[in-house]
This record gives sequence, C-alpha cells and structure tokens, in this order.
Amino acid sequence: MKAKLQKIMDDALARINASEQMETLNEIKVSFLGKKGELTSVLKSMKDVAPEDRPMVGQLVNDARNVIESKLEEKRAKFEKAALELKLQNETIDVTLPAKKPMVGHRHPNTKVLEEVKKIFVGMGYEVVEGPEVEYDYYNFEALNIPANHPAKDEQDTFYINSNILLRTQTSGVQVHEMEKGKLPIRMIAPGRVFRSDEVDATHSPSFHQIEGLVIDKNVTFADLKGTLEQFAMELFGPETKVKFRPHHFQFTEPSAEVDVSCFKCGGKGCRFCKGEGWIEILGCGMVHPNVLKMSGIDPEEYSGFAFGVGLERIALLKYEIDDMRLLYENDYRFLKQF
Ligand code: DAH
Repeated sequence: MKAKLQKIMDDALARINASEQMETLNEIKVSFLGKKGELTSVLKSMKDVAPEDRPMVGQLVNDARNVIESKLEEKRAKFEKAALELKLQNETIDVTLPAKKPMVGHRHPNTKVLEEVKKIFVGMGYEVVEGPEVEYDYYNFEALNIPANHPAKDEQDTFYINSNILLRTQTSGVQVHEMEKGKLPIRMIAPGRVFRSDEVDATHSPSFHQIEGLVIDKNVTFADLKGTLEQFAMELFGPETKVKFRPHHFQFTEPSAEVDVSCFKCGGKGCRFCKGEGWIEILGCGMVHPNVLKMSGIDPEEYSGFAFGVGLERIALLKYEIDDMRLLYENDYRFLKQF
C-alpha cells in the first residue's frame, strides 16, 4: 500500500513538473484528487486494509494529498506570475515617447478676418458697434435713400417678416441707428450677419456677413475715404497692395465707388486667381448721400461723411484662397484645422 501511494505521488509530481499550462494542472488535480481520482480510490479501498493499519494508511493518503496540493498550488502561482509578467511586458509604456497632442479648437476663417479688420479700424480710432438682424424696412431701405418700389430693393431679395419688418439685407442700416443717436463725430464699424433669399452655391449663401463703416465729421472728403481704405487694404493684404477706385452707384452714397485691390497672388500681372484682371474687387463705398444725413437729422451743410461695406466671407475666401463659400459654413474640422 505504501509503495502504491508512493507511486501515485511520484506520478502526480512528475506530471505537475512537466505541465506547461494552467489547464493541465486542473486535469491533474481531477485525475488524482477528484471523486474518481487515484488517491480517492485508495481511500475507498480502505475497507481492504487491516483495521490496525488504517490510521497509518489514512495518514499516508492525507500526506500524499497535501504534498500534491501544495505542489499544484506552487505551480499555479508560477503560471500566474509568468502570465502577469508577460502581460506587463506587452503593456510597457514608453515614457520617452512624445505625448499625443490634445485637440485644440481653431478659429473660423471668418472670425480671423473679422478680428483682423476690427484691429485695423480700432487702430485708426473707430468704435465697433452692432445693430439688429431683424430690422424695420425704414432702416434697411427707406432711410438709406431706397424708397418703396425702388428697383434697388429687388437687387437684394429680401426675407420679409411682414410688410414692415425684415431680415436685414445689409449692415448699412446700422449707419442710420448710429446717426440717430445724435452724437457727432462718428467713426464706427459695424460687423454682422445679413440675409438675402439667394440659392446656395460656391459664391452665394442666404446668410453671410458684412462689415459696415461710417465716418461723419466736419470737412470729411473723398480724400479721407481714399486714404482710409488704402491704409486698410495695405494692412489687410500687405504693404505692396495697390488700390483702385471705380465709379459705381449706391443709393445711399454720392459719389459712390467700388474698390479693387491689386491681386496679391500675382502682384497685378494677371493670373488665374484674379481671372487675368490683375485686380480683385473687395468693397463698396462712397460719400454719405445728403438725403441720408438729412433723414437722420444731420445737417449736410455742416457735416459730411463717408461709408463703406465689406463682405466678410469675400475677404476670407480671397485671403485664404478658398474657392467655395460653402466650406465656410459646413464646419468640417478637416477644413477648419488648416487655419
Ligand atoms: N450695403 C452695400 C451692399 O450690401 C455695400 C455698401 C456699399 C455699403 C457702399 C456702404 C457703401 O456703406 O457706402 O451691397
């Protein structure tokens, strides 16, 4: 019996030693210590052992069980340690690797241009003001010398809320609000959103932004207008920029002009960017019409002024060489992160 037990134990220990996996240990445990295991069957055959030998045999079986169990436990701990080490090895963190940059937001090209334009005019002593997006017909048209039934009203297809109230089609109405305050002189810019019932395409949107400018003081002349806008263009597009004033018509200015800048891509020689022209149109302007001054309670004999209106998106498209206005509204991060 003793020899048999010894053999069982040796077998068990040999198998434990040879095992290479956790699962094998479980199998070994079952085959020796399980209900039908070899050691268990020895216990079951105890009835064949002489009664006086039973305690001794029982003791031997227990010893064998303890030895096998502790060996199994030892080996199991070994496997667990190896598994942990392997895991740690695979998951090592290389602390010398450069860290991942957190995603930071980007300012929208419109915002960047607006901030630049504001900086330029604030630097010249202008105040930044705002006006309402929902506006009376009076401020958007009437007080700007665009009477009812005037064809200029059609040029700016308007979203009407009722016959009297509309979404402003231009920021020019802010001129009127400022003049009505009765505080002179005025030197202001008014950036903001405007609305027109246009179809969306590469150069149109039903909602876009303008920056209005207005200066009213004694003895303001067209020379002041020219000098101011020349300075503005050079600061915005670079010191080599040349400026050209082309006669134009706006109801609220007289004389009126459109301003072109020399193409900052080719310097004026003509390229694809300026469509071979050498010049790019950037804004409308003029001397404030005497009717407009009068309607807002300013004496045109005593005061004069100039005004201008810049399309914000237009400047952003030009400055950043973006060829489709829709990109400015889609807020695709892949687009925005370039600026
Ligand atoms: N409001 C004009 C437009 O939307 C732009 C404009 C032209 C504004 C001349 C002005 C100006 O102040 O003097 O087309």
